[in-house]
Parts: sequence; structure tokens; C-alpha cells
Amino acid sequence: TTLVGLVGWRGMVGSVLMDRMTAERDFDLIEPLFFSTSNAGGAAPAQAKNEKTLQNAFDIEQLKRCDIIITAQGGDYTTEVYPKLRAAGWTGHWIDAASTLRMADDAVIILDPVNRPVIDQALSNGGRNWIGGNCTVSCMLMGVGALYKAGLVEWMSTQTYQAASGGGAQHMRELLTQYGTLNAAVKPLLDDPKSAILEIDRQVIAKQRSLSADETANFGVPLGGSLIPWIDKDLGNGMSKEEWKGMAETNKILGSGAIPVDGFCVRVGAMRCHSQALTFKLKKDVPLADIEAMIAADNAWVKVVPNTREATIRDLTPVAVTGTMTIPVGRLRKLAMGPEYLGAFTIGDQLLWGAAEPLRRMLRILLE
Ligand code: HSE
Repeated sequence: TTLVGLVGWRGMVGSVLMDRMTAERDFDLIEPLFFSTSNAGGAAPAQAKNEKTLQNAFDIEQLKRCDIIITAQGGDYTTEVYPKLRAAGWTGHWIDAASTLRMADDAVIILDPVNRPVIDQALSNGGRNWIGGNCTVSCMLMGVGALYKAGLVEWMSTQTYQAASGGGAQHMRELLTQYGTLNAAVKPLLDDPKSAILEIDRQVIAKQRSLSADETANFGVPLGGSLIPWIDKDLGNGMSKEEWKGMAETNKILGSGAIPVDGFCVRVGAMRCHSQALTFKLKKDVPLADIEAMIAADNAWVKVVPNTREATIRDLTPVAVTGTMTIPVGRLRKLAMGPEYLGAFTIGDQLLWGAAEPLRRMLRILLE
């Protein structure tokens, strides 16, 4: 049987991955070998079969035993361990959630419902590195990939509403702590229906502006009751790294030329679903009903939400989508700029399609 090393399985993405692998009975098909960066020698989780002891995630000899390694340990781990492992002659398959290797020429960004042909081509060329995409890009392409596959997109602009989970587990905790702090600051006034709303507002903004460094340690500024229109590094050219990834990764996933993708990436106070408002310039005027049919038929998870108020507020929110594999696409309509201009709004759970799911699906492809 195939020996599959698992690294970073205890973290947030790793835990979602373990849940999905268990639910889909992936462990029935493999012999898992669990690694740890901190607890080597400890007991492996319940999914272990013959290998019941945690191995040291920095032990190249143990890693070399694996036919396939799946890591959700993070970019620093990849940077440190991956080159050593290849230098030691390991020729197995490396499946990684981190962005470190994503743009390397010998790596494929995996999102098989969208780019299975690109994956198959790389496999037949001896590809060994399979890297999960940026969560925002992956969720977007799961929703509207049909338009790209049909060659209809001249350009796309995206405005994102990205959840706290994209930053990590600590960021989610920080957001909730801030919400609690703000609520507590005005609780007596809130409980009094006759209190003045502008007094509540004044006390909330005073509290937001006086949050301690501890209370904003992860985001740097308050997020609860606010938003942050910058995600990831400052590239020094006016773009955030998250915005740069939009175009670079979309084109790499599709194996396409340089279709322009640009816009603004914004952190909002949602928990784990990334939302995006999309504007397309299509290459031609396609009837809206045809566009809806194409999108709906693209994969088993995308769901077209009728562009009505009732359906939108019921089905097209982070609260509706969290914890599900569904990728709703709604608000589909032609825009005032002309018949080739299409608007859409889409949402995805950034821990599922945005992180864990493409990894376990790549494992399945390798086991085929
Ligand atoms: N960069 C993403 C975010 C994380 O911060 O939301 C997933 O790629």
C-alpha cells in the first residue's frame, strides 16, 4: 500500500483536511504516517493503522520513506524541509497547502474540478509537486471557472470580502474577542431601549480606537465593527500580495495566457468564508440564461442562486455557506456598462475548497 506522510494535520487547515479524509474514507486506501514538529514519539491519531507513533517532521530519513507527503504545516516548514528532502534524493509526490512553491515552474496549482487537464499533463511529464492555490482564487474558480474554460473572459475585476480564518486560527479568536469587548463596552446602554444610539456609537468607536496592542496583535488594527482593505505583504507598487495572486494564480491554474484579473482584497469580520463581487468583461454578449446554465453545469458543487432578494439573503452569505462544500454564485446580471459586462457574487468556505479539499483530491488522483 501507499505510504502517505501527513504533516501539520493538527492545525486548522490540517484538522479540516483530516475530517474530510475521514469522511471520504481516504484512509482506507493508504497507510498513513503521521509526523509532528513538536511531539515526535507521541501517539498518532486514531486514523493511524500500522504506524502508531508520531515521527519527527524534520527527520529526512523518515520523510524519505513516504510515497506521498501531504503538508498543511505552513510555508516556513516547506522552505526548511522540502529542499533537503529533494537533495536527499526523494522522488515522491509533495502535496502542500502553503504558497512557498506555488509559482515554481515544476509545481502545479491543484484545483482538479477546474484544471484536471493541467494536472494530467504534468503527471504524464513526471510532475511531483502539487500545491494548493490561494483560497480566494480557488473559491472564485470553483464558482465561475466555466466562463474561463469557455474562453469568454476578456478581463475580470474582483472585490473581496475575506474572512478572519484566512489569517489563521489566532485571527479568528481575535475577531471574536473584539466583538465581545465592543459589546461589553455598551451592554448597559444596549439593554436600555430608550438609550441614545449616537451615545452607543460614540462609546463603541472610543473602545475600538483604544483597543490594546494585545487585542489587535494579529490584525494590527481593530477588525470587529470595521474592515481592513489590505491583505498580505505590501509589494511596493500599490498592490497587496493577495491582489497580485489573483491574476498570477488564476492564469497558472488555468494554464492560460495573461488574462487580466485585478481588484481589491479586503478583510471583513466574517469567520471562514471568503466572498467576492466580480465584474467580467466578456469577449462577446452571451445571454444571461446561457451564462447561468454554463456556470451551473460546470461542477457538482457550484450552485446558481437566483438573483432575487429572498434567495440572495438566504443562500449567498458566509453564514449559509460555512462548513459546506457548496459554492454559490449569485447576483448574476448584465451591468450598465454594456451587454458584455457581467456582474456576479460568489462565496466559498476558505478552509474547504480554499485549502483542504484540493489536497485530498490530489491524493485520490495519485492513487487512481
Ligand atoms: N491569503 C489568504 C487570506 C489565506 O489571508 O485570506 C489563504 O490563501
